[in-house]
Amino acid sequence: MATEKWVFMVTAQTPTNIAVIKYWGKRDEVRILPVNDSISVTLDPDHLCTVTTVAVSPAFDRDRMWLNGKEISLSGSRYQNCLREIRSRAGDVEDKEKGIKIGKKDWEKLHLHIASHNNFPTAAGLASSAAGFACLVFSLAKLMNVDEDPSHLSAIARQGSGSACRSLFGGFVKWEMGSKDDGSDSVAVQLADEKHWDDLVIIIAVVSSQQKETSSTSGMRESVETSLLLQHRAKEVVPKRILQMEEAIKNRDFASFTQLTCTDSNQFHAVCLDTSPPIFYMNDTSHRIISLVEKWNRSEGTPQVAYTFDAGPNAVLIARNRKVAVQLLQGLLYYFPPKSDTDMKSYVVGDNSILKEAGLDGASGVENLQPPPEIKDNIGSQDQKGEVSYFICTRPGKGPIVLHDQTQALLDPETGLPK
Ligand code: DP6
Repeated sequence: MATEKWVFMVTAQTPTNIAVIKYWGKRDEVRILPVNDSISVTLDPDHLCTVTTVAVSPAFDRDRMWLNGKEISLSGSRYQNCLREIRSRAGDVEDKEKGIKIGKKDWEKLHLHIASHNNFPTAAGLASSAAGFACLVFSLAKLMNVDEDPSHLSAIARQGSGSACRSLFGGFVKWEMGSKDDGSDSVAVQLADEKHWDDLVIIIAVVSSQQKETSSTSGMRESVETSLLLQHRAKEVVPKRILQMEEAIKNRDFASFTQLTCTDSNQFHAVCLDTSPPIFYMNDTSHRIISLVEKWNRSEGTPQVAYTFDAGPNAVLIARNRKVAVQLLQGLLYYFPPKSDTDMKSYVVGDNSILKEAGLDGASGVENLQPPPEIKDNIGSQDQKGEVSYFICTRPGKGPIVLHDQTQALLDPETGLPK
């Protein structure tokens, strides 16, 4: 086998996810075991995803990885743990057409090339590690013919980044914290697929920020060490909230879904404030967006939009349906208009067919926009230009898939090097 020069590869696409009941705090830093369950919504990979090509060849002399075109080191323990776990489960692979035969045992000696690309800017501060590690594990499992279901794969992806385990499924996903010391029962399970609640529309406001943020990993470590609120949250609050959220999702109960999502995001940020020294992830723009949504929801009598914020200032807004999303976008663009030289199609990305419904694809611009009167009062004047870098319009989406179209591969099929 060692004299042959074949390259065998697989390309896959994996979505990112946004937690509506947050994971914050580990009970085991090495295995990445959380202090509470969490629940997320998978985002449509058409708008936010990672594509990864993994290749194996007897010609490769070491494991190598390229992220967004740049070679990165695989020596970190998170990568090493994922690679070790997946290699130990590798099966026999045969490609008769190409005359390739790899036995179970061969995988220990063979080296890998991995190329990964996010279809959204890494600088946007959107959880790229979740989609990244999920895609690494999923594509390697396909390459190595690993015979495990997505929940078992999620336990491997978890060891790359906790939130990655939830990206092994589409729709609505729960990460069960588990109780075993070895982490084998700390896995993700699907609560419902993406078609279960397809009215929902998600608008992400990518908020401009100068500030260097504390990473989730070190932030949550400091919270575990210093925040009493975190302990109360994990023990008393989240277990009940998880059950309520499961019910809300099952019944498509938007009022409960919103109440739980917003409260949980706010409690997560309260834990950050309760950490010593305190961690500030949201900024003034984030707070202005919260006020806008809260006032609107209150004036409507029933919730129209849920908000949630991760370890950064970006707002993830979930509208109950398309009509509400159109109004929401109009309101957001009124308060956070693009800079004058910015084209609307680069200011609202993802599913930007929504621009047409908002009457913003033609000549008439944001100058003529009037948000719903209920949200216009008390939010402040229209002077927030530049606070939001851009908006992404998306929806709940599907889980990982293999991409069979060779033109989408990131590695050259002859050399196994980045194209
Ligand atoms: C705020 O999964 O990025 O997004 O496990 O250390 O890699 P590590 O952390 P990470 O933390 C995500 C935290 C969060 C909430 C969530 O996604 O549940």
